[in-house]
Amino acid sequence: MSRPFADGEVIVLVDKAGRRHRVRLRAGERHSIHSGLIQHDDLIGRSEGVVVTTQMGARLLAVRPTFAEQITGRRRQTQPIYPKDLGAIMVGADIYPGAHVLEAGTGTGGLTLAAVRAVGPDGSVVSYEMREEFLEAAKRGIVETLGALPTNLTLKLGDVYEGVEEREMDRVLLDLAEPWQAVPAAKAALRPGGIVFAHCPNVSQVQRFFDCLREERGFGMLEAFELLQRGWTVRGRSMRPSHRMVAHTGFLCFARRLAEDELFEPEGEGFR
Ligand SMILES: C[S@@+](CC[C@H](N)C(=O)[O-])C[C@H]1O[C@@H](n2cnc3c(N)ncnc32)[C@H](O)[C@@H]1O
Repeated sequence: MSRPFADGEVIVLVDKAGRRHRVRLRAGERHSIHSGLIQHDDLIGRSEGVVVTTQMGARLLAVRPTFAEQITGRRRQTQPIYPKDLGAIMVGADIYPGAHVLEAGTGTGGLTLAAVRAVGPDGSVVSYEMREEFLEAAKRGIVETLGALPTNLTLKLGDVYEGVEEREMDRVLLDLAEPWQAVPAAKAALRPGGIVFAHCPNVSQVQRFFDCLREERGFGMLEAFELLQRGWTVRGRSMRPSHRMVAHTGFLCFARRLAEDELFEPEGEGFR
């Protein structure tokens, strides 16, 4: 539903160079950027998508932050998963409405938020984080983003390498330094047919994770891919690839939990 900007909400101002400025609107306050000043009162009550002008004549587009902008624009102590990978993880690990998802570690809560969105009100997410200060920061970030902690999200302080209480989970998402150490926990937590995902920045982590899945047995369909995002500059008649790209971030690794303690690795590359 279309609703005007309200006092207290966070918006994004986009300037002529495409830079994004996050601003929390407060009645009576003003925001200063290099191209001038903008009065918050000129934005409160206005419609999303409005173009406003600073006292120096610079034009700024005012919009609400998208999910990707919310994830990347926050202060953070750990490395969140990049937006380019988040969508692929949601589809690759098939995080569907109603799914019950186990995650470790929570970090900034970026992947947690994406999973909460994807499972919807009928699903649930349990997220383990071993560092209390990170768990508290993630909780604050999630409340800031959603307005409250969702009732279907459980944040747990704990070391996933030591094991988890959850069983019959549909999906397990791992983003931590040694995902192979979490394989026994993922195996115990997943229902047959469930999917385990691991985000691995280094190829040595991919190898160790997959070796461990094979040793543990009970997994199949081991797959990995990476995404390179090349933006394009679209300006009038000038259309060309951007100078910079978001290239390597991490390998996205997936496997399915089998019903029995065996291995199933097809020889062909298959289709993803
Ligand atoms: C790279 S960050 C995760 C970032 C997160 N996916 C995001 O999008 O913000 C890795 C996190 O895993 C946590 N961690 C590492 N080992 C863990 C373990 N054994 N159990 C639980 N959490 C762990 C770390 O403290 C850190 O916060």
